[in-house]
Amino acid sequence: MEYHVGHPAEIAEGGRRVVSCDGVEIGVFRIGGALKAWHNVCPHRQGPVCQGRVYPRVTEPLQADGTTRTLAYDETRMQVACPWHGWEFDLATGASQGSRMKLRPARLRVTEEAVYVVL
Ligand code: FES
Repeated sequence: MEYHVGHPAEIAEGGRRVVSCDGVEIGVFRIGGALKAWHNVCPHRQGPVCQGRVYPRVTEPLQADGTTRTLAYDETRMQVACPWHGWEFDLATGASQGSRMKLRPARLRVTEEAVYVVL
């Protein structure tokens, strides 16, 4: 079954749309130019993970002497933080930071005119 999400241009870089597909919520994100879709169910305690804050991954670059002095943002690795307990997930891979849990992917069909979730 396919569910219409909208026109591809309606989801800008870094943006998202959370849709209900007969009661199954799916978050569709545009990351690095590509559209990715994840079930809106956090693998921790089933929170609405796709509705969390989206931001670049925070890194801590090492200096030549092995110390760190600052934090940096890696704009090539976007994360979503689940609004319930703050677990963070990579939006390109679904992998969490600090655990083996992953977001559950959803399939998309994208044409020039429309994006569809396929369940
Ligand atoms: S339910 Fe998402 S972090 Fe706990």
